[in-house]
Amino acid sequence: MTYTLTTPLYYVNDKPHLGSAYTTLACDALARFQRLKGERVLFITGCDEHGQKIQRTAEAAGLSPQAHCDGVSAQYRELWDRWQISNNRLIRTTDPRHRQIVEQFFARVEASGDIVEGRQQGWYCVACEEFKDDPHEAQDPECPTHRRPLEWRDEVNLFFRLSRYQEQIEALIAQPGFIQPASRRNEVENFVKQGLRDFSISRVNLPWGIPVPGHEGHTFYVWFDALLGYITALLEEGDAPDLDQALSRGWPASVHVIGKDILRFHAVYWPAMLLSAGLPLPAKVFGHGFLTREGQKMGKSLGNVLDPAQLLERCGRDAVRWYLLRDIPFGDDGDFQQQRFSDLVNNDLANTIGNMLNRTSSMARRWFENAVPPASVAMGSDHQLAQAAAQARTVVLDGLEQLEFRSAAEAALQLAIAANGFLNEQAPWSRMKQEGTRDQVADDLYAVLEAARITALLMAPLLPDLSERMLLQLGQSVPDSSATAQPDGTWLRQLEWGALQSGAPLPEPSPVMARLELSEPL
Ligand code: MSP
Repeated sequence: MTYTLTTPLYYVNDKPHLGSAYTTLACDALARFQRLKGERVLFITGCDEHGQKIQRTAEAAGLSPQAHCDGVSAQYRELWDRWQISNNRLIRTTDPRHRQIVEQFFARVEASGDIVEGRQQGWYCVACEEFKDDPHEAQDPECPTHRRPLEWRDEVNLFFRLSRYQEQIEALIAQPGFIQPASRRNEVENFVKQGLRDFSISRVNLPWGIPVPGHEGHTFYVWFDALLGYITALLEEGDAPDLDQALSRGWPASVHVIGKDILRFHAVYWPAMLLSAGLPLPAKVFGHGFLTREGQKMGKSLGNVLDPAQLLERCGRDAVRWYLLRDIPFGDDGDFQQQRFSDLVNNDLANTIGNMLNRTSSMARRWFENAVPPASVAMGSDHQLAQAAAQARTVVLDGLEQLEFRSAAEAALQLAIAANGFLNEQAPWSRMKQEGTRDQVADDLYAVLEAARITALLMAPLLPDLSERMLLQLGQSVPDSSATAQPDGTWLRQLEWGALQSGAPLPEPSPVMARLELSEPL
């Protein structure tokens, strides 16, 4: 079985923003966790490049749509490289193979009798690329999300017979676990309860899209085309553009991770399209919340958009990942606050984790010949830090499985806090001055180093860089969470108490986490 997970395919109308980085970072943590557990992972991200929004943006920039898409998708690729995102695919919907996958999929849906011609009248938001249901009566209505005027459309389109799937979709969304977090299920349920209406899947007079075979003048509606990008992305490099081939590479998806605004497309339209084509459904759709900044919506007009490339440059990967994953419950809305950002990074990572590791390994080196101290036989699983480690392990594994990154991060941190507390209580620096205490000091330092090692391993999916620096400082090998599945169980076994070898050399310590000093606003 392959664990296939996806980010949304990001529109290339603008350069990447913090919202896109947020989803991608969270998916990266999830992908790394699954690989460490021994799963074969296919982590898919990509760019959504067709449709009116992109066409207009390119026109405004005086570029051909293709040239525009090439430019922005290159920025995405570069950003994910700099963030060291471990995606296995970056699909672009302008990939020539994608067109063939869309055509083959459409042929199956058409053969099911689910494509009919109809007249589409309604108010359209180009920024959402979506018809809005409500404002039929209003004069000059605007999009509630984008606060921009809606455009009246009246055209003959091809429709997908979504209404035929009412019962199946109701049953699907009633399944616990399909839509997560559970709190998001209600809004989809209410939408479905109102009765599913057929939706148009083609546009006329829109050249920047994939032509609909057999229906001259029509191109596919951007969402019909984009959702299928998840399937095209499964293809390996030399594969022919064949739908069945693609599906055999890792379908169905284990989870689609998306923002709450596009839940309806993923939890209703997409499953119905797949049912129509006779294909298996994704196991889970996770809708996370929106980020604001210092209490305000981020937007160009407010000039308060956080650029993920700049953030990376000024603050580094660990700091940003830590803040986003540790402070905001994944699923809820979250507010980016600069002061809190630097406080958390400095307290949790530089002080609690960094200092604990640094001072313990300095003492161990000084008093035990630059090596891990010899632990006594009493160092078993009943040690208070062994118990804290076992508990942290359970919570971290469970949290990461459920995409509860915050509880996972907090549990890993709790272990470091417990180790620090233990160190302060035992005060080996004073004990060492007394006679006959060497064995006790050895045990105590061993226990703290062992807790640090387990903290580092638990952090590996969340903060791969910091985890690596911690493990190297402890003279340990570093599990590779980025490319291949770890042989089943290695990482899990390494999380067991007692794997740190007494007598193993301890390298000279250097700070594993620099403090974040942000004198200027970001
Ligand atoms: N192209 C579609 C997705 C197609 S998937 C087959 C799309 N693209 S998008 O670029 O507009 O949005 C991508 C994601 O960014 C969405 O999941 C959206 O929820 C998320 N975010 C946009 N602004 C955001 C925040 N301020 N905070 C968090 N996520 C945000 O929709």
